[in-house]
Amino acid sequence: MEVKHRGRRLRTNELLRGLVRETRISSEAIVYPIFVDENLQEKKEISSMPGQYRYDINSLLHKVENLLNNGVNKIMIFGIPKEKDVMGKEAFNENGIVQRAIMDIKKNFKDMYVISDVCMCEYTSHGHCGILCNLGVDNDKTLDMLGKIALSHVEAGADMVAPSDMMDGRIGKIRYVLDKNNYYNTPIMSYAIKYASSFYGPFRVAADSAPSFGDRKSYQMDFHNKKEAIKECMYDIDEGADIIMVKPAMSYLDIVESISKKINLPVASYSVSGEYSMVKAGSMAGFIDERKIIDEMAVSAFRAGSNIYISYFAEEICKSIREGRIG
Ligand code: PBG
Repeated sequence: MEVKHRGRRLRTNELLRGLVRETRISSEAIVYPIFVDENLQEKKEISSMPGQYRYDINSLLHKVENLLNNGVNKIMIFGIPKEKDVMGKEAFNENGIVQRAIMDIKKNFKDMYVISDVCMCEYTSHGHCGILCNLGVDNDKTLDMLGKIALSHVEAGADMVAPSDMMDGRIGKIRYVLDKNNYYNTPIMSYAIKYASSFYGPFRVAADSAPSFGDRKSYQMDFHNKKEAIKECMYDIDEGADIIMVKPAMSYLDIVESISKKINLPVASYSVSGEYSMVKAGSMAGFIDERKIIDEMAVSAFRAGSNIYISYFAEEICKSIREGRIG
């Protein structure tokens, strides 16, 4: 019998497989999330995320230098303040931990692109992403705070802001405040499609931001929904978002694919703390090959349509690209 179709023909050797690869990735599209903690004098490992740390400003600067040497030149920064209160006021203190960290990074490392996470949950004593009213989060009062937070980050030197709170109207509000202060060229990466996900568990230990009561389901999305993702994304584009993020990544690649086909903006996906910690735990137990799993996860995010990939494995991914295992 004659074999008519030979799919294997294009898989015969490494050079040929490289030629016909459909997904190409570059370290330019990789972003590393990093935590700076005002309570620390030296870096401290995050118990829920082995291999990841909270940094004081000094050790943060060392880490930034290291990242640059390893080909990672974009970070997304999260702050943990000494003082938390019901209003989360530290979040827009011009001498707050994240503002000082941004200033120092930009002063010392011009080549590092700094994206700042704009949210209140690390700064409020109750851990919710906004101002409370009757035990819920007051959307419109929170918007004023978000505008101030974003502006304080940009004044400190942030290259881009990334609001992660999921309040309605925040992109319009932040765009308005930035424009009014002449920061019309500072892009906003919207966490437009952020699901209420248990994959954030380890992050809440990392950022000390678990809600002290209730959950985040009245602002983050229900993971049963996909049309709603498109709706959220359209609202944010209309309000002025420059980049749309889908979060988490791994269990949500169908969302990434739909969104990337639908919109003309760059799409980012965020491989969150739970994804990181599962891979770490699996590899520490000897069940999986960590490096190969990391490579496969990263490529699959791009294959699904991500243009940008945010990952705690950023350094490992850039190494794999540099050494030609993926890319
Ligand atoms: C909220 C925020 C969260 C993450 C990024 N920004 C967590 C949450 O909504 O509780 C999660 C990131 C991760 O899990 O890696 N400011």
